[in-house]
Amino acid sequence: MNRAQSETTKLAFSEKYDEIHARRYFDKHEQGFWRRLSNWRDHQICTKALKIAGNPKRILDMPCGTGRFWDLLAKDPERKLWASDNSQEVINAALKFRPPETAKRFETFKGSAFDLPVEDDFVQSIFCIRLLHHVGAHEDRMKLLAELARVTSDTIIISLWVDGNIAAWKRKRLEAKRKGKQYQNRFVIPQITIEDEFRESGLTIEARLDFIK
Ligand SMILES: C[S@@+](CC[C@H](N)C(=O)[O-])C[C@H]1O[C@@H](n2cnc3c(N)ncnc32)[C@H](O)[C@@H]1O
Repeated sequence: MNRAQSETTKLAFSEKYDEIHARRYFDKHEQGFWRRLSNWRDHQICTKALKIAGNPKRILDMPCGTGRFWDLLAKDPERKLWASDNSQEVINAALKFRPPETAKRFETFKGSAFDLPVEDDFVQSIFCIRLLHHVGAHEDRMKLLAELARVTSDTIIISLWVDGNIAAWKRKRLEAKRKGKQYQNRFVIPQITIEDEFRESGLTIEARLDFIK
């Protein structure tokens, strides 16, 4: 199927990122000890991942959300940076609330992760944090991975939740309890499944970094 024919995949969770939710998402990571600790750990892992990826000079932050990693990505003054998200409201919040000298380093555009409006090999690395664990269906993940593989010329830094650890077990139990919800928000993907999907998409795993060892 070529790009013109393909229908963009729509995820139920994608719809919630309006202006109010964007502000909430911006505040969320600054609130409370555990959230701030988890945000700090995310930054630590991402710093390491960027180093392993060879400190790429052209990066697309997608989904950028409210620019949680913009300071980190902009640390290298020679880096060329793009940021994209499905929601213009969260992009606007990032541009409004992040320090102006950081925000101005990013060229932003709205787009779906399944059909990004850029050419093949657009960047050296895609920074894709906290999206994949929202994608529950195999076909959707394959479509997403194919699009990421098309747009990067070298690496993808991607976060996800896999089974086989305490955090994943707790999350699985929590999602099972949330019977009232119209849709499942987050998914724990078996490691064996996702690694097969990476391989099927033509990707090789250079490194795995755990949130907690
Ligand atoms: C949990 S946030 C993660 C944002 C950021 N990477 C972070 O870690 O702070 C998920 C983001 O995915 C975006 N999103 C949802 N569906 C998307 C899609 N199909 N394509 C691109 N972005 C999408 C949402 O608008 C939201 O900003």
